[in-house]
Amino acid sequence: MHKLEEQINTAVNYLQGFNYHQARVGIVLGTGLGQLIHHIQIEKSIPYNEIPHFPLSTVESHKGQLIYGKIGDTPVIAMQGRFHYYEGYSMQEITFPIRVMKALGIRHLLLSNAAGGMNPAFKNGDMVLLDDHINLQPENPLRGLNSSFFGTRFPDMSQPYDKQLGSLLQSAAADKGLTLHTGVYVSVTGPNLETRAEYRFLRLIGADMVGMSTVPEVIVANQLQLPCAAISVITDECDPDNLKAVSLEEIIAVAGTADKKLSELFVSVIKHL
Ligand code: HPA
Repeated sequence: MHKLEEQINTAVNYLQGFNYHQARVGIVLGTGLGQLIHHIQIEKSIPYNEIPHFPLSTVESHKGQLIYGKIGDTPVIAMQGRFHYYEGYSMQEITFPIRVMKALGIRHLLLSNAAGGMNPAFKNGDMVLLDDHINLQPENPLRGLNSSFFGTRFPDMSQPYDKQLGSLLQSAAADKGLTLHTGVYVSVTGPNLETRAEYRFLRLIGADMVGMSTVPEVIVANQLQLPCAAISVITDECDPDNLKAVSLEEIIAVAGTADKKLSELFVSVIKHL
């Protein structure tokens, strides 16, 4: 048995002891985007360091807890804090919780992230539904996983984001009078932000927004045939001809301005899953 398979089974057994296997939706919350937690009737919250084989979140702005509870009647697992490649983890470590949540029984995965907006139509605080992505991060999370336990070896990526979840999010946004753009997300390693020349390049290759997460999790979700949807909140406007310096504090503050509307959007869709 592959070591990763054993580790997944151990974590799953541990979490089953706290009813996490009843969850039907998995949620991964991005930088500065934690308000959704307040919509959950929390039944259990476990710090990552107590869950076997879970990595520990090293980013101060991310709390490291795995939450189990209900949104309406829908049982959910929410990751309060995710793992990034720039923290020093391998891609397999970053995506470990996705495999665990799927093995526990989730049927849908919703993700959010903070991203730099390169499409000039996107302004700070805007929400963008990922329609597609470009992976510029190294070390693929599927590398070396040759057993069928992990899913198909060469996952198709012609439709990485689930159409049905996307339309549910679009109709929920329309109902609430919220604008939800669509766009292509490019993932980079970070942790530095991009130079003017890099933003110009990323825009040129077809990306609307840029960030340091989400893509590894979505690749694994596709291998697991787990329908997923992701929304970026634009936290900085990346116009290479007029680029302003930006700090993590500002990124978190701007994400905070969109947190409420993003949470309401996720909640209204989750209630129907
Ligand atoms: N670049 C990369 N990642 C980001 C950015 C950015 O401009 N903003 C928020 N996350």
